[in-house]
Amino acid sequence: MRVCVIGTGYVGLVTGACLSHIGHHVICVDNNEAKVKLMQAGQSPIFEPGLSEIMQSSIQSGRLEFTTDIAAGVEHGEILFIAVGTPALPNGESDTRYVEAVARGIGSNLKGGYKVIVNKSTVPIGSGDWVRMIVLDGIAERQKAEAQPVLATAGGGVDEVMPSAVTGDYDFDVVSNPEFLREGSAVFDTFNPDRIVLGSNNNDRPIKLMKELYAPIVERQFAEVKSVPPVPVVVTDLSSAEMIKYAANAFLATKISFINEVANICDRVGADVSQVAKGIGLDSRIGSKFLQAGLGWGGSCFPKDVSALIHTADDYGYETQLLKAAVSVNERQRLIVVEKLQQALKILKGKTIGLLGLTFKPDTDDLRDAPALNVIENLARLGAKVKAYDPIISQTGMRHGLSDVIVETDAERLADGCDALALITEWEQFLSLDYIKMAKLMNTPILIDGRNFLNQPVMEEAGFRYIGIGR
Ligand code: NAI
Repeated sequence: MRVCVIGTGYVGLVTGACLSHIGHHVICVDNNEAKVKLMQAGQSPIFEPGLSEIMQSSIQSGRLEFTTDIAAGVEHGEILFIAVGTPALPNGESDTRYVEAVARGIGSNLKGGYKVIVNKSTVPIGSGDWVRMIVLDGIAERQKAEAQPVLATAGGGVDEVMPSAVTGDYDFDVVSNPEFLREGSAVFDTFNPDRIVLGSNNNDRPIKLMKELYAPIVERQFAEVKSVPPVPVVVTDLSSAEMIKYAANAFLATKISFINEVANICDRVGADVSQVAKGIGLDSRIGSKFLQAGLGWGGSCFPKDVSALIHTADDYGYETQLLKAAVSVNERQRLIVVEKLQQALKILKGKTIGLLGLTFKPDTDDLRDAPALNVIENLARLGAKVKAYDPIISQTGMRHGLSDVIVETDAERLADGCDALALITEWEQFLSLDYIKMAKLMNTPILIDGRNFLNQPVMEEAGFRYIGIGR
């Protein structure tokens, strides 16, 4: 099928590359020229395992193209994905201006022939209908612009005779198809989804096309394990599909805040939250995932999506007590590493603290709303000197938001001269560092494990005073 994906960030680029890999002809559109040039040369602007390989083979086979020209993308695609960012506004509301710009751009370039416009961006509930209106607006604006010269030569009264609504045959439907991929395993998740959600207020035509598009994935032709039943497809109305995305992220964020609250009680009563999580996670009603205590959730999705849902509820006069509590537990939890450093070192002014990891989770280069940024800010405010080593950020040279931190090129340089280390991101590589050497290079070998990731006896044997969260 012919597909256009507009917005080539973590979601759009992975979607475009994976859809081309399963046989579709995809044109990806982005308004960032430098990014498009990079992608045309087969390079991924983001770090995501397996993505570059898929991009390069699809580009070579002619099934994946990149452009800044939205008109070309819209003309090409029978299915048009909107995959631009929806960051949070300062009041927590979702900033939909990029979605609006793209919907308008689609409208003003729509030339007839049936199209499915797919909201893959996480958008506030009700956005499906709103996108439809903006697209129609875009069409009307273009018709108005096209009509203007003719009407102007016809002599005056231009405003009165302008078409105020769309005329002609523009046939399209809007579908909500929220994305559930995890950064760091985005390609894997695209080929091995737990479910595909399709929301539409016109169940037949667009859903049939979307099912055709995803058939190879639903049938698990590209899945790691091929023998399991097909991927469940949840077909529902637009608003419910939009709500599913917010509810999923709000649930997962709340689950983490729950275990962090339990960890804080464990710390006080002398229990071990890792054991508690194991003990409760084996209950099939609870499940073991997202029960890892630590310094809280972050990243480009959970914080903004939970805030947006709280904001939506507020708009309807409903105060979300549970979600607000999940956020406030998380805000406090982000400071736990700093608190534990204060307990261990007493005065932080003039001390050197080394952070292991910066990104909000392993296997990504994404620093958006990463807990590390709060830790750095607070340590700097307390007068500490902050150094960091991150397997990806140390390589890429990305420094956005990192003005108060010295980024080292390896873990031993990081440890050298530190008064304490704090593990912020659970990168697999951190399991096999030379901790004996690192402990020797430090002024005081203190290690705060902000993710309960390392083995306490092993760290103690290496010479560290090991402090976990709720252990
Ligand atoms: P991103 O910020 O990484 O990428 C957005 C891309 O859109 C950028 O490349 C930007 O240049 C481009 N763009 C912005 N305006 C444009 C325009 N008018 N025309 C063409 N391109 C334009 O965003 P990301 O992280 O991929 O997120 C996209 C959406 O997917 C958001 O709504 C997010 O909440 C949602 N989502 C993100 C997930 C993630 O793990 N990052 C997971 C699931 C959903």
